[in-house]
Amino acid sequence: MNLQTGIDTSAASGLEKPPISDRPLVELSHVEKHYGRLHVLKDINLRVCQGEVLVVVGPSGSGKSTMCRTINRLESIDSGVIRIDGQLLPEEGKDLASLRAEVGMVFQSFNLFANKTILDNVTLAPMKVRHMDKKDAEDLAMDLLARVGVESQASKMPSQLSGGQQQRVAIARALAMKPKIMLFDEPTSALDPEMVNEVLDVMVELAKEGMTMICVTHEMGFARKAADRIVFMADGRILEEGKPDEFFDHPKSERAQEFLSKILTH
Ligand SMILES: Nc1ncnc2c1ncn2[C@@H]1O[C@H](COP(=O)(O)OP(=O)(O)O)[C@@H](O)[C@H]1O
Ligand SMILES: [Mg+2]
Repeated sequence: MNLQTGIDTSAASGLEKPPISDRPLVELSHVEKHYGRLHVLKDINLRVCQGEVLVVVGPSGSGKSTMCRTINRLESIDSGVIRIDGQLLPEEGKDLASLRAEVGMVFQSFNLFANKTILDNVTLAPMKVRHMDKKDAEDLAMDLLARVGVESQASKMPSQLSGGQQQRVAIARALAMKPKIMLFDEPTSALDPEMVNEVLDVMVELAKEGMTMICVTHEMGFARKAADRIVFMADGRILEEGKPDEFFDHPKSERAQEFLSKILTH
């Protein structure tokens, strides 16, 4: 047990990977958010340390996506504090852009630039935001495309790739910014079933390399295997958190029991 963080790193996820450090990369304290009269985030307190894989589960509409989007300020918050690697999330401007670059995000829909090649999709941001020269950006992009297993597709257009391949490119594109944290918001939900595993495999590899990850997913096999911790959200609140086995085998709240019985009976 690490006394500072309270995280028991000795029995973290089932993966062989570097130990979780006690350096918090993402911290949300008392975060509140409304959409008009709808209270979508209610006193969210969350801390994710370097090397930790957090899986967020919960029924649709519980605020999972909103929480992810507040972490790189795609959404503003009403009150509370969000820190990325100890730094307060800036309101706007250059500081926000650079802090946002620390957080890679992969969405349900792949959002690749349809009129650019796979290679250009990956080199664009490093050249524009990190001011990397073209050759270096291309070398980096080819390394990353190889890592996610689609290097042979580099000169194609996104529409020529399968959904699973496009999502792996989206992961490579996010990694090209050398983020400290990766956020995944239901990255496999839009995929045909036979393509789900090829994307989860890439995520497992990232976890093994020690990437700090926040993953919203309904893939419970992945969650059990790769998560160090599960957070269960319902109605805008974090209702429960714990180790995967603890959460899946002995959910404490009625909401979590009900949620699990729904998704696990099929
Ligand atoms: N841009 C928005 N404007 C108004 N309401 C929104 C917006 N985005 C999400 N919501 C609402 O906020 C709640 C939480 O949504 P969301 O974070 O997408 O939940 P989840 O990802 O857990 O399904 C839902 O009731 C949803 O309808
Ligand atoms: Mg969502």
